[in-house]
Amino acid sequence: MTSITISRQFQAVLQSSIIFIITFLTFSAFFISLESQSPASKTLHISQSECKAWSTHRKWKSLKFKITKRTKLFVKLEDFFWRKDVSRLPLPYGMQGSELLLLKVLAATANYDMPAHIENLDCRTCVVVGNGYSIRNTSLGSLINKYDVVIRLNDAPVRGYEEDVGNKTTMRIFYPESASSNPGLHNDEDTLMVMVPFKPQDLRWLKEILNDEKRDSRGFWKPPPLIWLGHRSKVRVLDPHFMHQTANKLLHIPFPPKIKQKSFHPTTGILAVFVALNYCDVVHVAGFGYPPKQDQQQPIHYYGNQTMKSMKDSSHNISREARALKKLEDLEAITYLHPHQ
Ligand SMILES: *[C@@H]1O[C@H](CO)[C@@H](O)[C@H](O)[C@H]1NC(C)=O
Ligand SMILES: *[C@@H]1O[C@H](CO)[C@@H](O)[C@H](O)[C@H]1NC(C)=O
Ligand SMILES: *[C@@H]1O[C@H](CO)[C@@H](O)[C@H](O)[C@H]1NC(C)=O
Ligand SMILES: *[C@@H]1O[C@H](CO)[C@@H](O)[C@H](O)[C@H]1NC(C)=O
Repeated sequence: MTSITISRQFQAVLQSSIIFIITFLTFSAFFISLESQSPASKTLHISQSECKAWSTHRKWKSLKFKITKRTKLFVKLEDFFWRKDVSRLPLPYGMQGSELLLLKVLAATANYDMPAHIENLDCRTCVVVGNGYSIRNTSLGSLINKYDVVIRLNDAPVRGYEEDVGNKTTMRIFYPESASSNPGLHNDEDTLMVMVPFKPQDLRWLKEILNDEKRDSRGFWKPPPLIWLGHRSKVRVLDPHFMHQTANKLLHIPFPPKIKQKSFHPTTGILAVFVALNYCDVVHVAGFGYPPKQDQQQPIHYYGNQTMKSMKDSSHNISREARALKKLEDLEAITYLHPHQ
């Protein structure tokens, strides 16, 4: 008798616990979805629930382009020289003809990985902070600092803009012309400085810096810094695979370029989004977008005073990139942290 009573009581307790748990889950899901509907609110949490396998899976399925998720981001001595699927193209899509420069760069850096505390996360939440004017006055800084991985671009400053852009930087993606001479000023001590090689000169620049050789500044469209105070153990070289895939799969840039047509390269911004889609489980973005073409006065960036005028002769197709970003947003592969056009 007693044992039956106990088990009946136990059943009742079990039932009510189950009901409680279900109710709790339903409510949490409700609040999480409420939050994701108002991404501009400052109380937005980076929801680990977004990491659940099903949502990641759905995300990738809905992207429709076939993508082999590759999470090794940086060029490594061993795989680069022995890997079978290495591209046979010259830079920016492959290392053909630049192998020796690459070898010398990699020998000097000797580090090719992400830090273990990020690499070993079950769920990687990432934010790509674009340099666009749209991030001004958003007060997103403290939210941005909460992501596992904060990716910044080129020489965008942090000091003086912390309220809107935060001050944590996990990776900074740049190329020589967009490098700032002293990365220590606007980065953390352990920020990875990730160089995107567009051309052989870019690797040559890095090799000369790392080995303190005589600088040769020929072949750049803007003089790169001749003194660069970054720490060699923090330098990485982005695998050209990502540039190739961004151009080819995301932007559908014709390759090789049609005769007489200008060749376009992805911006570091869209490249960073693509890198994040490969590496991260959650990808949020802020500071993307350009002013309308007809508005020649509005600044492009959240810092400085560059306007659309200066983009006139750029080798980027920003309308194509805007379309690709819109598509990624519609597919819920990326989420904007602030309202945008
Ligand atoms: C940002 O806010 C400041 C002070 O509230 C204001 O002066 C400035 O015009 C705002 N900037 C933008 C881009 O809205
Ligand atoms: C970011 O700002 C906070 C608060 O001012 C400070 O404690 C922290 O050390 C800063 N981090 C970096 C990397 O500058
Ligand atoms: C733009 O900013 C730079 C430095 O910040 C300054 O030297 C230059 O005069 C400014 N140009 C205009 C048009 O305001
Ligand atoms: C940019 O891409 C769009 C397609 O997205 C294309 O129609 C346009 O011609 C391209 N711009 C240039 C200058 O090639």
